[in-house]
Amino acid sequence: MKIAVSGKGGVGKTTLSAFLVKWFAERGKKVLAIDADPDANLGHGLGLKGAKDILPISKMKELVAERTESTPGSFGGFFKLNPKVDDLPEKLAVPSGNGVRLMVMGGVKKGGTGCVCPESILLKNLVQHLILRRNEVVIMDMEAGIEHLGRATSQYVDCLIVVVEPGRRSVDTALKIKELAGDIGLTKVALVGNKVRSEKDRQFLTESLSEYQFLGFIPYDEGIIDADLNGVFADSVEGRTRDGLEEIAQNLSSMSKSTNPQP
Ligand SMILES: Nc1ncnc2c1ncn2[C@@H]1O[C@H](COP(=O)(O)OP(=O)(O)OP(=O)(O)O)[C@@H](O)[C@H]1O
Ligand SMILES: [Mg+2]
Repeated sequence: MKIAVSGKGGVGKTTLSAFLVKWFAERGKKVLAIDADPDANLGHGLGLKGAKDILPISKMKELVAERTESTPGSFGGFFKLNPKVDDLPEKLAVPSGNGVRLMVMGGVKKGGTGCVCPESILLKNLVQHLILRRNEVVIMDMEAGIEHLGRATSQYVDCLIVVVEPGRRSVDTALKIKELAGDIGLTKVALVGNKVRSEKDRQFLTESLSEYQFLGFIPYDEGIIDADLNGVFADSVEGRTRDGLEEIAQNLSSMSKSTNPQP
């Protein structure tokens, strides 16, 4: 099962990703948690001590240079477009307890014309490998864009979850992401409404995004903020918040049971 999580900044992508990682792990699955957001904090969300000290893959200059056969730190020049990446999950994923391993991708500095630099090629190939070739559950916490996904991988993504909160900007971002997804042939897109304070909030979301499927809703819960501050989120949610998250995870796992192409 391959899941990517996207949405506007601060909507709750990392919170949801961390919960899903733990949820699948608790059901005995091997899970690869991928932090594909340059402002990496999925490790923190998972309660992993020392998460902020993990060196992101894009910052591993020697590795990037070796695999892409490029000159370290260079933008121009030649480099390999299909670097070897299949050994990287074993080498670089950090054990995070309960069958979970974490990979931190890191950011890529933008070049003048788009971004075809050795780092971005390595990351893109790595994401493609994770989605096409791995048997684990892969959960990818992404930024608002879906740059790491490409046409080659899109049909093997079981679900692109777009997290939305009650607010116009978050809805606009969701629509934009949905459009980008369509451009690369990714059709399995579903929404999660987060920080929902009332029936009115919920209605705002379902009406603004009436054409899209919602996996479920998570209430606004100060307990999540407190737990985040203490780095213990996924274990400590309860009540309606847990019910909302459980429903999302259940809906998600039944989605993956529908027919999927095999790479
Ligand atoms: N349901 C909720 N109720 C209250 N606070 C929440 C809820 N979900 C997330 N938060 C809080 O909102 C903040 C942002 O959440 P989170 O880091 O998960 O978002 P994000 O989309 O990953 O952000 P970023 O774009 O910065 O990576 C955190 O402080 C988190 O504790
Ligand atoms: Mg985040």
